[in-house]
Formats: sequence, structure tokens, C-alpha cells
Amino acid sequence: MGKKGLITVLIKQISSLKSNEKALAGKTLNVIKKDIVKLIEEKKNKIYRDDLNKKLKNEKIDIFMPGRPLKKGGIHPISKTTDEIISIMGSMGFNVEEGPHIENEFNNFTALNIPEDHPARQDHDTFYLKKTQSERKLLRTHTSPVQIRVMKRDDPPIRIIAPGSTYRCDDDATHSPMFHQIEGLVIEEYVTMSNLKWVIKKLLTDFFEIKNIPMRFRPSYFPFTEPSAEVDIGCSIIDGKLTVGSEENWLEVMGCGMVNPKVLENCKVYNTKINGFAFGLGVERFAMLKYGIADLRMFYENDLRWLNYYNFSSTGFPNILRGL
Ligand code: DAH
Repeated sequence: MGKKGLITVLIKQISSLKSNEKALAGKTLNVIKKDIVKLIEEKKNKIYRDDLNKKLKNEKIDIFMPGRPLKKGGIHPISKTTDEIISIMGSMGFNVEEGPHIENEFNNFTALNIPEDHPARQDHDTFYLKKTQSERKLLRTHTSPVQIRVMKRDDPPIRIIAPGSTYRCDDDATHSPMFHQIEGLVIEEYVTMSNLKWVIKKLLTDFFEIKNIPMRFRPSYFPFTEPSAEVDIGCSIIDGKLTVGSEENWLEVMGCGMVNPKVLENCKVYNTKINGFAFGLGVERFAMLKYGIADLRMFYENDLRWLNYYNFSSTGFPNILRGL
């Protein structure tokens, strides 16, 4: 059937036949040709069907076989706690801001009114990076420098929180060289300490889901706030677990206060009607209190048994899909 095949050659030769033989030869060859094409088609179909049947037989799928177990990831308690706090603060109109972990001395200390001789500036607390010609960089010791960055960049009103990791040269049962804070800052006209107290009470009530949560404001000192306070939460140890709710023990969970006018000045906020409040909280402390975690070091040990125990679902609340 091909170009030089028998049938093709014979068909070509028809023209050299006598005219009375031509018709018969043409007809005959056509019949033969059709037969051959049919046979080829049938053979082709048979090969195809045999092949398919063989495949169906060999590649049978058992649709009742149980699926392979999925490798399930989960949300770390620190991320979960951070997300919960973001969600609560978001409901009060706070935006999330981020700052770099490598900061300069001005944002981390000077602008926050922390003088040169303040103990927090000493080498034993701060991880300093190698000095360059102009400045000495450091790993931020708190999230407060984000306050400075935002105040320098934006005009009031400002309502932000700044979550993230912070670093101090400290390592024992209750301190880790890397830990997490969430900073809060409000800069508006005529803000008062009672506004601050209300916001913190709302945050604690919603976070711990306890209506009349025992909390106390203790007078304190921070260079960047005046007056300053520390907030304690009432808790006790029940069955070896730290439990919020009673007034037996008090655990400090955050620092706060009215933004020191010197800090506003350092950020070039000169309008005297404008003032504000700020707070800074330790995420680990919040997580320990809510989820009954007794030892800070567990957060960073990557012990799979511990992680699997707390394994918060990525589709649980809060998450980005359901409104963080
Ligand atoms: N930056 C402080 C610290 O790390 C915490 C803090 C206290 C933050 C009072 C604040 C504040 O914004 O007003 O210890």
C-alpha cells in the first residue's frame, strides 16, 4: 500500500493497459485495496482494545483502600498567641507594623529616652554588631523602636501594634536570648491613662476569656513613659499548671504608660494637644498563662512530642482567611 508497494505499482500500470482491460483491472484493484484497508483497520482496533484491556487488568484501582495519612503541620503556640492578640487589637482599630530586628542605637535607646548609662545599654543585655564607621547596630532588645519608626513616618492619629522577636543576652529558666514581644502605641488628641487601662482590660479579658480577670496596675518606671505602670495578672498553680483567675499569685505580663513628651519631641511631634499611651507585652508569658505551659524553654526546643501536643490547627481561629 505504500509508495512503492505492490498495489500502488499496479494501479500506476493501469494506464499502460489496453482500454478494454482498464476498467476491469481498476475495479479489481480497488476492491482489493478496500479489503486491505479494512483488514488493517480491524487489526489496529484489535491491538488497541487488547492493549486497553491489559492496562485495565493490570492497573486496577481499589477505590476502597484507605488514603495515606497526611503529614500534618501545626501552628506554634507563640504564633497562635500572636495571632490571637493581633485579632483582638485589630477589632479595636489597631494596625500591625513591623520593624527590622537589626536596629540602630537611636531607635532602640536614644529616641526612647534611655540614657547612655542605663543598664539596658550595657553589653551584658544587648547583642551589639561590629561597629561600622558611623554607627553601632544591635539586635533590638524590645519592640519599642517600632514606635519611633512609626512616629517619624506617620502623622497622628496613630494606633498600631508591633509584634516580633526581640533579643537579649540572657539565658536561664525564665529568660531566653530570643523572645517575642508585642508593642502597642496610640498617638491622638487628648488620650488619657483611663483609655490605656480600658484597652488593656479589653485585651486581657478577650485573650483569657475570663470576664472579671484579676489584674492590677503597679506604678513602675520606664524612660519612655511617664507615668509608667506594670500590669500583673492574678493566677495560681492548680495541679502543677499555671492557671489564671485567682488572686493568690501575681504574674507581671506587660509594661505600659503615657508616652513621655521627650519621646514625642525626639520624633518631632510638637503639637501640644497630641499625646498618647504605649504598652509592651511578652508573648511567651501570655502563651504560658493561657495554655498552662510551665517552662519557657519548651518553646524553642523543637521537641516534636511537645509541638504535636499543642499543634494548633492552621484552619482554626484566628487565621487570615477568617479575619485576623
Ligand atoms: N520595652 C519594654 C521592655 O522591653 C516594655 C514596655 C514598657 C513597652 C512600657 C512599652 C511601655 O511600650 O510603655 O521591657
